[in-house]
Amino acid sequence: MFANPIRIEIDGFGVTLRPLRKNEMEHIAELFASMEVLRYTNMVYAPTVQGEEEWWEKASKEPNTAIWGIVPDGEDTAVGVTGLHQINAINLSCTSGIIIGDRKWWHKGVAYRAHLARTWYAANTLNRYTIQSQVRTKNAYSLKALLKVGYRVSGRFDCNCFHDGVFCDTWVLSWVNPYKVNVLYPNGVPKELQPSLDKAKQALNFAPQAVKFL
Ligand SMILES: CC(C)(COP(=O)(O)OP(=O)(O)OC[C@H]1O[C@@H](n2cnc3c(N)ncnc32)[C@H](O)[C@@H]1OP(=O)(O)O)[C@@H](O)C(=O)NCCC(=O)NCCS
Repeated sequence: MFANPIRIEIDGFGVTLRPLRKNEMEHIAELFASMEVLRYTNMVYAPTVQGEEEWWEKASKEPNTAIWGIVPDGEDTAVGVTGLHQINAINLSCTSGIIIGDRKWWHKGVAYRAHLARTWYAANTLNRYTIQSQVRTKNAYSLKALLKVGYRVSGRFDCNCFHDGVFCDTWVLSWVNPYKVNVLYPNGVPKELQPSLDKAKQALNFAPQAVKFL
């Protein structure tokens, strides 16, 4: 499904997360064709417009996903996609992902803003207790943006991906809802979680000042 539109503004710069429009998929296909964009994702080949439109149809009906197009201030069209996937009714977990396809928007705080809004939505709207993610160890900026909202590195896959001629590793990341830890850890919260729980709490406490539903 496509998730509700949200706007997040921090330091005068806003990013809108809103349902992707089918007629944006041609632009998304063009942006996502670049290996510069796909390098650290699970995708390899250039998507086709038809393939992206089929993905849009499927995503719009998939009940266990919450997907947004990413529209930074100054754009009318989505420049990327972010989402929560594998939303699980029993485990109260989900996974997360992001691709900003338009490289002119990299390193401007778009991912940080999108992660903060998405995490706020995951906790407050979808009642998620945990979120899982994965980041190639070479993708330092992606890692940084997730750590900022309270994800933590909880593991590592050895040499499970190949790009640019070499095998490389992948970080396994977890986000744990700081307001649900007593349910998740009835015998006491492991102390290695505390720094990320503090960050997650900070993020959730700050979010209401920056994020609003449209
Ligand atoms: C990885 C990606 C999500 C990062 O998005 P972004 O909007 O550029 O990230 P942000 O601007 O929020 O930056 C996150 C952190 O990385 C730093 N950073 C980002 N780009 C940087 C650069 N070129 N040089 C130095 N630092 C950089 C930022 O300064 C920030 O750290 P800070 O909070 O300490 O300042 C984006 O580049 C992307 O979508 N890449 C292609 C697909 C992909 O790799 N997706 C993630 C798969 S896990």
